[in-house]
Amino acid sequence: MTKILVLHGPNLNLLGLREPAVYGSLSLPEIDERLEAAGAQLGLEVRSYQSNSEGALIDALHEARGWAAGVIFNPAGYTHTSVALRDAVAAIGLPVIEVHLSNVYAREDFRQVSLLAPVCLGKITGFGWRSYLLGLYALAEIIKDL
Ligand code: DQA
Repeated sequence: MTKILVLHGPNLNLLGLREPAVYGSLSLPEIDERLEAAGAQLGLEVRSYQSNSEGALIDALHEARGWAAGVIFNPAGYTHTSVALRDAVAAIGLPVIEVHLSNVYAREDFRQVSLLAPVCLGKITGFGWRSYLLGLYALAEIIKDL
């Protein structure tokens, strides 16, 4: 079965508790469960991984080269700061879709800069946990043509 990596960056392990008015009330395991179910409907195996560490996220991207057809990535705070994650996305040669729960364009100026956007296929922001779902649907279509 075709496999997709859903990669979650720093502080997303606290979803449900963390600023629920901004990020929603679902926990990360609840979101992952919904994405796994949606993936199964699309004939895709969804594997999720979260880390607060930039290096671990880079390792997960490198390893995905060996098994994943594409990546849905919420780099969280590293979106706005990490040259190393941008380079990892550029290096792996997989389709990567950037997602955010909140609408980063309606927030602080620093959140409107994404170092990763230029090396991702596209970006989905502002639809809560459904940003991931929309990313999954987009990726499912895109990998059909690869
Ligand atoms: C976020 C937006 C980022 O600016 C923030 O640092 C996060 C979460 C989101 O999903 O809305 O941690 O990526």
